[in-house]
Amino acid sequence: MSYTPLSTGIHADPTRRHWALVTAQSTYAFGVTDNGLLMHLYWGPRLVSLADLPPAELKPERSSQEPALAKATEEYPPFGGLRYGETAAKVTFADGTRELDLRFATAEITVRDDLPAILVTLQDAAYPLTVQLCYKVDGENDLVIRSATFTSEANETIRIERAFSAVWHLPRQYAPRTLTTLAGQWLGETRLQQRSLVAGTALIESRRGITGATANPWFAIESTSETATEIYFGALAWSGNWVIRATTDVTGATAVAGGIHEHDFSWLLQSGESFTTPEFVAGFAQDGLNGTRRRLHRYTREQVLPKPQALQPRPVLYNSWEATFFDVTEEGQRKLAERAARLGVELFVVDDGWFPARVNDHAGLGDWRPDPVKFPRGLKPLSEYVKSLDMQFGLWVEPEMVNADSDLYRAHPDWIYHFPTRPRSEARNQLVLNMARADVQAYLIEVLDKLVAENGIDFLKWDMNRPISEPGWSDEIERGGEAREIWVRHALGVYAVMDALRANHPDLIIESCSSGGSRADLGILRRTDQIWTSDNTNPEARLFIQEGFSLVFPARVMVAWVTDQGRGLLPVAYRCHVSMLGTLGIGGNLLHWNDEEMNEVADWITIYKEIRPLVQDGDQYWLLSPHATHGEVAAVEYVTTEESVVFAFRRADLFGEPLPRLRLLKLQPEASYRVEILGQNDSVSYQASGAELMGYGLSLPFKRGPFASCIVRLRKQ
Ligand code: DGJ
Repeated sequence: MSYTPLSTGIHADPTRRHWALVTAQSTYAFGVTDNGLLMHLYWGPRLVSLADLPPAELKPERSSQEPALAKATEEYPPFGGLRYGETAAKVTFADGTRELDLRFATAEITVRDDLPAILVTLQDAAYPLTVQLCYKVDGENDLVIRSATFTSEANETIRIERAFSAVWHLPRQYAPRTLTTLAGQWLGETRLQQRSLVAGTALIESRRGITGATANPWFAIESTSETATEIYFGALAWSGNWVIRATTDVTGATAVAGGIHEHDFSWLLQSGESFTTPEFVAGFAQDGLNGTRRRLHRYTREQVLPKPQALQPRPVLYNSWEATFFDVTEEGQRKLAERAARLGVELFVVDDGWFPARVNDHAGLGDWRPDPVKFPRGLKPLSEYVKSLDMQFGLWVEPEMVNADSDLYRAHPDWIYHFPTRPRSEARNQLVLNMARADVQAYLIEVLDKLVAENGIDFLKWDMNRPISEPGWSDEIERGGEAREIWVRHALGVYAVMDALRANHPDLIIESCSSGGSRADLGILRRTDQIWTSDNTNPEARLFIQEGFSLVFPARVMVAWVTDQGRGLLPVAYRCHVSMLGTLGIGGNLLHWNDEEMNEVADWITIYKEIRPLVQDGDQYWLLSPHATHGEVAAVEYVTTEESVVFAFRRADLFGEPLPRLRLLKLQPEASYRVEILGQNDSVSYQASGAELMGYGLSLPFKRGPFASCIVRLRKQ
């Protein structure tokens, strides 16, 4: 007898009360025990039949110190009863009861965001509170996307103290597991970290009110045994405080729990109200970190990025920051724009410094109108001039902020987070607006709307340069509310303003920036098109940062400028090639660049535009890792069914020795490819089969000397 395999999608066995979420290469399954607990049953390689699943049951208690519930793999374990592991939810009811007892109520297979989905409703056994778990399935990318909605049917207020997006159970196994995360700080974001998971908990988090650079809400847990190499990975779509904890026990079971951080968090759920957590997407892969990369990139392009821009080419941009800092004037920007146009730039962005009193970082934030001294005629003439040069016009803003020295702060000192009895901590001389307030949101929508509409703005770089402090909101407390909601409401407020702006200006492109890459997550990417990866534009450092960044985000989201960092020290080609790995930008002082440099960069921009569809939409594979080789070499391949492009970098050439060949991935073995080295006039192209390029490998055409790099294009004949 043989089975007919389950198709991709969601399948139910109503008799056993089992459900299987089936993707191209994985199955995720849960079921209900006799007493109504929702148990995780399986996550791993694709199964063929629902009959393969184990029963949903509590194992007998092993000892009085190890109760059955403490060892259970519940899908959404609440705080309550004999549970001592990671919990997903905790609430306090009006009568002081601080436990939840969630039992299965209903399951409904449906469609959400064009994906197959299942909504599982859990109901508290004694109180009128439901928690509805939503599971969406991205079948092609082997991903499950989870969130939870708390609803109070009670005639009383319920206090939520923890509301995670998901707990993911990884099976008990012999092979040791390695956790990969991304950590960093300003000027050094998204650097790979790897550690063994031993019994205990590994934790990554942000308590700054933003995603943060200290860690990114992404994880990958890898293991290699005699029989399999497997990775479980996930990313949380949230731009406020977050936590992800991976807890392993001595039996080799690991649970990953994550969502909004419970640190200083509390949310009052009034009668009839609901609270929905951010989404947590996770997947299973057997083809290494590159496999996880490909899945998250495709998902982000197809499901996350705002439409209609999601798949439109990201323009080559120029940004004035490193060229002029605050010294922004109409005349100076015109000169830069002329030079940028000569290079082939498509979008010209005026960074910080264009509004009143902004001669340094001590004043001006909050007053989003052109400085009459620097722009006596306003911004419109510059915007029109930029457009006459065939470029789009972009502007930097930092809407969540005020300087104490600003008209906005003088008018509304109560609009910032503060405790009336405490000093208001400044960072970079600025204070954070209370984005939870409806009047602050309305004000920002009005001001930004006007700015965009009146000045023909095609692009906003939305910056956020400090964490939240003194998280007080006294007005809300007076109204009987809960000020601890601000950690969540800040992010929701930012989302709301962005959503309103996008609704009014559907073609607007928004870049998320936070002192570089401090707000890089799949939540902000639902309403922004790209991310400023890091203020560190040194190409050598960038390779590390970009390798890590690319584990979560596709190339079209990763903005990379060629600046004056490394100018004169590193070859122009090397500097350009590093930035061509993502969305290319230029950020140097073009008034200092000589004709030779201008021409060479212009040539690379032309080449970038030719290969842009491949870079921005192809599958991305890091073939040589700077992290693993301590920066000695790096190689990245972008591939579609028709062609491929390979970037390679080598730091030093100490011994003039031949290098190993580079094995490529995902070509068609029988197809013949024309192999062409881009930008090297003296090079000849040749033919090779996909099998040869993937087996024997590609010979890397580096020139002699330090900081060599090359781009090789392979086109199917
Ligand atoms: C921080 C950003 O990361 C920079 O690119 C620049 O926009 C500055 N802020 C401006 O203040």
